[in-house]
Amino acid sequence: MEKLFSKQKYADRRRVLMSKISGGIIFLPGNHRSPMNYKSNVYRFRQDSNFLYFFGLDSEGLAGIIDVDSGEEIIFGPVFTMDDLIWTGPLEKIEDRAEKAGIKKTLPTGNLKDYLQKASHEKRKVHYLPPYRGERTIWLSELLDKTVSEIENGFSQDLISAVCSLRIVKDDDEIQEIESTLENITRLQHIMAMKNCRRGIKESYIVGIVEGFGFQYDCMLAFPVICSVHGEILHNESHDNTLKDGQLMILDTGNESPMHYATDITRTTPVSGKFTRMQAEIYNLVLEMMNSAFKLMKPGISYSDVHKKASETLAKGLTDIGLMQGNPEEIVASGAHALFFPHGLGHQMGLDVHDMEDLGEDNIGYDNEHKRSTQFGTAFLRFGRKLEKGMILTVEPGIYFIPALIDLWKSEKKYESFINYSALNNYMNFGGIRIEDDVLITDTGNRILGKPIPKTIAEVEETFKR
Ligand code: GLY
Ligand code: MN
Repeated sequence: MEKLFSKQKYADRRRVLMSKISGGIIFLPGNHRSPMNYKSNVYRFRQDSNFLYFFGLDSEGLAGIIDVDSGEEIIFGPVFTMDDLIWTGPLEKIEDRAEKAGIKKTLPTGNLKDYLQKASHEKRKVHYLPPYRGERTIWLSELLDKTVSEIENGFSQDLISAVCSLRIVKDDDEIQEIESTLENITRLQHIMAMKNCRRGIKESYIVGIVEGFGFQYDCMLAFPVICSVHGEILHNESHDNTLKDGQLMILDTGNESPMHYATDITRTTPVSGKFTRMQAEIYNLVLEMMNSAFKLMKPGISYSDVHKKASETLAKGLTDIGLMQGNPEEIVASGAHALFFPHGLGHQMGLDVHDMEDLGEDNIGYDNEHKRSTQFGTAFLRFGRKLEKGMILTVEPGIYFIPALIDLWKSEKKYESFINYSALNNYMNFGGIRIEDDVLITDTGNRILGKPIPKTIAEVEETFKR
């Protein structure tokens, strides 16, 4: 069965949540199983992160209720039949499991509709979060007697803000959960990938090593593995290519800890085991972008400013190399640098790899003080707010040479004063480089989580050697 934190921690989280909602009922449904191709052939179960955060129980068909006015807390759960016992073995009683999360009252899931209908008839507000799975939307629509579109639009903004304010900062137990998975699983996966990277094998071979190692320790993936010699395709999920000398292999992969906290690390390895001069130049610039971010990251600094600094480091470096020209601040203000770095520097990480994105990216990453940019590239920054102690973020700068985008901008003569298009002709087959670490904001600065994973050119080339 599931691994839980102390029952006091869950009770404290719910108490704070309650204090932030002025009245009514907080309804936090868990997930159901999702079929792959027919009803009883299902994907591996993944509990809802908000349900996990407040109740910790990691199985299907549960729902949590917190009555803000009376303080009553209830877990609704399935009543097991002999068939369940025959097919799935003995199951711990829901009362005993709920007790571990500090909840004394349980009721059959079959009673949930009556409970919620009674609350609606009494004109009490039922606060729920935006559903992200079709099954959930339909379930809520049946339970609350509303149309699908009413359910999709009727979520509680107050509950979003309250949940976000709690989950956005991680405590020591959560940090430990992430860090131990990073050290014991994700770090080793990257080292194994570097050691196995060689010409003639397929990307899928590396993916198999990575996934298999995680599964040996019952750590599911935090997101589908990105492993590609076409690093310029940012979220390339196909693994068909055969590795060739001269190419660069990007591996962007992360696991879920036993309690479902995510890790997310990227490294780039040369297939030949040695970076060419041209590759080394770009690789070191990505590292410089990363280090310029680490220098800034501390409580009180906006992550949008950290993104800007990393972008200026990129612009400066590319002018030194001869691919851009002009003043780095002006280049970044214009948006020209996004030809090479068309994504955000990083995102929040916690129970989700993009933490709480189900609650709406702008609700989590932006606030009254920080509005999302509308400029191409910077608009993809998922998190722009001020950093606070206890936040965990990824820092994942990259430099990419995307032939279709270069051709388009060139044909439109876009940012011609800043971009040296003729010098780019030599880079059309370059691919891309991304390097990513997971970082904790501390009292005075930041700390990269986990034992170091080979990152400098010397470290990557040394790890590659067998
Ligand atoms: N590592 C995948 C992502 O950050 O989107
Ligand atoms: Mn990431």
